[in-house]
Amino acid sequence: MCGIVGYVGARPVLSVLLDGLKKLEYRGYDSAGVVVLGEDLNLFKKQGKISSLESEISGLSLDGKAGIGHTRWATHGVPNDRNAHPHLDCSGKLAIVHNGIIENYRELKAELIEKGHVFSSDTDTEVVPHLIEEELSKTNDLLKAVLSSVNQLKGSFALAIIHKDFPDKIIAARVESPLVLGIGENENFLASDIPALLPYTKKIIVLENGEIALIEKSKISIFDSQGNQIQKHPKTVDWDARMIEKGGFEHFMLKEIHEQPNVLKETLEGHLDLPRRMVLLPEGPPDDLLRNLETLYITACGTAYHAGLYGKYLIEALTGLPTEVEIGSEFRYRERKFNPKSLGIVISQSGETADTLAALRRLKGEEIPIFSITNVASSSVARESDWVFHTKAGPEVAVASTKAYSAQLLSLVLFALKLSQARSGPFNPRTTELVQELQKLPVLAEATFNLEKNIQAYANRLRLLTDYFMLGRGLDFVTALEGALKLKEISYVHCEAYAAGELKHGPLALITSGKQVCLLATQRSLLPKIHSNFKEVKARGAEVLVLRFPEGEELEGDETLVIPSTSDYLSPLLAIIPLQLFAYYMAKEKGCDIDQPRNLAKSVTVE
Ligand code: G6P
Repeated sequence: MCGIVGYVGARPVLSVLLDGLKKLEYRGYDSAGVVVLGEDLNLFKKQGKISSLESEISGLSLDGKAGIGHTRWATHGVPNDRNAHPHLDCSGKLAIVHNGIIENYRELKAELIEKGHVFSSDTDTEVVPHLIEEELSKTNDLLKAVLSSVNQLKGSFALAIIHKDFPDKIIAARVESPLVLGIGENENFLASDIPALLPYTKKIIVLENGEIALIEKSKISIFDSQGNQIQKHPKTVDWDARMIEKGGFEHFMLKEIHEQPNVLKETLEGHLDLPRRMVLLPEGPPDDLLRNLETLYITACGTAYHAGLYGKYLIEALTGLPTEVEIGSEFRYRERKFNPKSLGIVISQSGETADTLAALRRLKGEEIPIFSITNVASSSVARESDWVFHTKAGPEVAVASTKAYSAQLLSLVLFALKLSQARSGPFNPRTTELVQELQKLPVLAEATFNLEKNIQAYANRLRLLTDYFMLGRGLDFVTALEGALKLKEISYVHCEAYAAGELKHGPLALITSGKQVCLLATQRSLLPKIHSNFKEVKARGAEVLVLRFPEGEELEGDETLVIPSTSDYLSPLLAIIPLQLFAYYMAKEKGCDIDQPRNLAKSVTVE
């Protein structure tokens, strides 16, 4: 949901800004802009991707020691040059970039127009430069003007502000939308997310809600919402710049799909006690809390929600503990009662999804402790949780989540096993067997790539596909939901995921001759049932792709993909890989923008 960057220092400002924006392009890509502060404000903005902006300004060398930039995911105002950020005040001396939504912009705009301000865009954002201009006319102190303006804003925002009369400085403010400061040697940075900082520094400060930062090249001063200076200590991140390169792959998504075996290995690291066939989860809640639980509430959005659904099936199967799972945007507003003897599990790759954060806060409001699973250790979700499992997926750049999903599934396996150990002792044969199986997963995941050529050929054959069905039972239903989401997100193929047993209650009406169906058949105990569903769709003329373990030979589809054998409980960790590859190759066949699908953004920090 929009990415912002800022830089103060001696490097060529324009290229630092463009470079940072490219790393944040996953957050939005319908228009982009930069402003470099030299003798004057040099402003450039353009509809389209960052490459359009870049080709317009390539070759320009601008003197300047500070600048800010923006890549947009439109909320208020269509994507065009006028609505692109940065936005200016009436004097043309002050520029701002904004990520988030100013909810009271209508009232503020009316007041500002009354006072004579002239607006030149349809955005909510443009009230901010005019409001600061108004406040600045009263104090001539930029920091104070920003502070009093920010205190009048409602909604969510990360702002970066630059002013011609206050050279070599950026002021940044944050309420809800993420903002990270990067600390260099005689240079400082700001960005919506860590990847934009990695080529320059690993030393960061995360700005908290209500804080304002004055960024100069040799120092960063931070103030609370009352203007009192506060001390914050920088942290060092354990990601490095290589992790955000494509590493020889054509797209980030393909690279990230291929990283999964290693992600599984990294996530398992330090969590298996093989001699005792136990899992270790030192970052999770203590055993006595786990023992006394009566309910679990899982909440998440998008792909992370599918991971949550997997968690529910698995936890209930292994421990019997009733587990609810609900999408963040629904959970946050539901009228209901909660069991006080419960634990909230919040899952989010970015740790910044607005609805997930709101759901987390809803749980906290009910005094329910929170265990979160997130890929970004410094994220809001991580900081607001009681216990955090940091998935070791590394930075995920492609908008469609793949490796973070695998890491989330694995984290939930570890949690379910830990829960089982705490509640019914460590020597349950079902769980000890799973611990044994877990260590094999990275190798088995690698072996699924043997199917890649077949999947590519299948996608080529289906390149004119418009409708698709993915069917499964039990944990295969969860995989079908996630596989269907991938196909919709990046290849724009309409895909229905259905619990195969529900087929006859409606969707079977859509199955006619030549319809393409993927049938997941990795749940051994449900094979006879899935066999009936196979017959049902075949009888109506569908062409079926079967995805199964080597056992289950009786299920031979028009195409069959055989994944390596593992426990039924772990099959979603392997079965999703061919479906991710299918979505990828379909999108490639159709010439789609794989890493940045239309209308989507990786991190949805607005409601
Ligand atoms: C967006 C992304 C999805 C992601 C979802 C939740 O919709 O496009 O890939 O699953 O947000 O994101 P989170 O960072 O909370 O896991």
